[in-house]
Amino acid sequence: MTLRVLTGIKPTGTPHLGNYVGAIRPAVRASVAPGVASFYFLADYHALTGAADPARVHRSTLEVAASWLACGLDPARVHFYRQSDLPEVTELTWLLMCVTAKGLLNRAHAYKAAVDANLEVGAEADAGIGAGLYAYPVLMAADILLFNAHKVPVGRDQVQHIEIARDLAQRFNHLYGGEYFTLPEAAIEETAAVLPGLDGRKMSKSYDNVIPLWGTSKALKEAVYSIVTNSQAPGEPKDVEGSALFLIYKAFASAEDTAQLAADYAAGIAWGEVKRRLHEHLERELAPARDRYLSLITHPARLDEILAAGAERLRPQARELLARLRDAVGLRPLAKLAAPTPVAKPAAKGKLPRFVQFRLPDGRFDFKFNDGEGALLLAGVGYADARDCGRAIAALKAADESALVIDAHGGIHLDGAAIGMAGEGGLDALRLGLAALRAAEA
Ligand code: TRP
Repeated sequence: MTLRVLTGIKPTGTPHLGNYVGAIRPAVRASVAPGVASFYFLADYHALTGAADPARVHRSTLEVAASWLACGLDPARVHFYRQSDLPEVTELTWLLMCVTAKGLLNRAHAYKAAVDANLEVGAEADAGIGAGLYAYPVLMAADILLFNAHKVPVGRDQVQHIEIARDLAQRFNHLYGGEYFTLPEAAIEETAAVLPGLDGRKMSKSYDNVIPLWGTSKALKEAVYSIVTNSQAPGEPKDVEGSALFLIYKAFASAEDTAQLAADYAAGIAWGEVKRRLHEHLERELAPARDRYLSLITHPARLDEILAAGAERLRPQARELLARLRDAVGLRPLAKLAAPTPVAKPAAKGKLPRFVQFRLPDGRFDFKFNDGEGALLLAGVGYADARDCGRAIAALKAADESALVIDAHGGIHLDGAAIGMAGEGGLDALRLGLAALRAAEA
């Protein structure tokens, strides 16, 4: 099975070296792995939840799209698109909103932080907080669930959002009785370096300590020379621990070169020489990409085309999922109501045996198969993955009677594999129940 990996990039600023090392470079590397379908998109709807700044969103979308492509993302191989080019994202957001507990969003970190900031200055809790910020996690869940992503590479600050997406997926599946959504998992990039900025703190535009990714070679050099160091003179042994220069160098140099620099620190290398070497390494890695970047941002129509094609390619599957979801929630063609006998069926349904899926206290998934009166026919064996639980149910529904075997302890086996424990009625009652269900569903 193909592993679907999806991540969104919010276009709210100009890409810097920290974005490159922490997100762009690892994502581009991961995107060439075999057996993986990658989805990378510009989360431009998310960019609207901050202060209104249309020119910034516009400009940043151009810069971020050009950066990812310049760094080697291949739009023929991965799905690369703009969130706002997929109307299904907003449609799904609403369907999810309607299964979202308001209290769940009250507990979201970003919203809570905004409330705390208000309270701290004596303002009303919700002063200046938009419903867009409040619903942000639901929009993000829609991004992820629209393509049933398995893995979502994100930073630690986003993990709660992935948990919310799981929650909503599970809730929707449960409420509407189907396996509509896969439960996504956060993939935290442990290996990607957190890059220090000019002042030694984490490189971040909120600290105003960033090195822009695409400055000229000269601008890059000036930035490197402005990275803080201590006042140790040439010849004095220096400590790599806590040296921002060393950490940035390490993110761009081979293990060998890094070891050499560590030795040179101990031997008293001059700060100027460290900076010269760092600039040389940065140039080596970034110069070819910089040329591609310049060519891309000077041909924005080409970028429009690439992004539009990326979205177009995905729309059939997005539409197909939305069609199923609309049907699930009751947004159905009226003609569907006229045909069947509307009263008889629900009455009979109460008497039918049925499968019930649920969550065990340890977080695993399980099912029971009960007869029409609620007596147990079969209890499942417990599954780590909801899909395996669903598959076991599907296998039972499709099973040939003779493929079911009971052992001395009441364990039921299907095609040689344990699938549950029989209820009081044993194998015979189970077989009758399955047959009744099959007859009713035929
Ligand atoms: N909220 C993410 C961030 O600020 C961006 C994002 C939007 C995202 N939708 C997503 C990330 C879906 C992963 C999956 O970084």
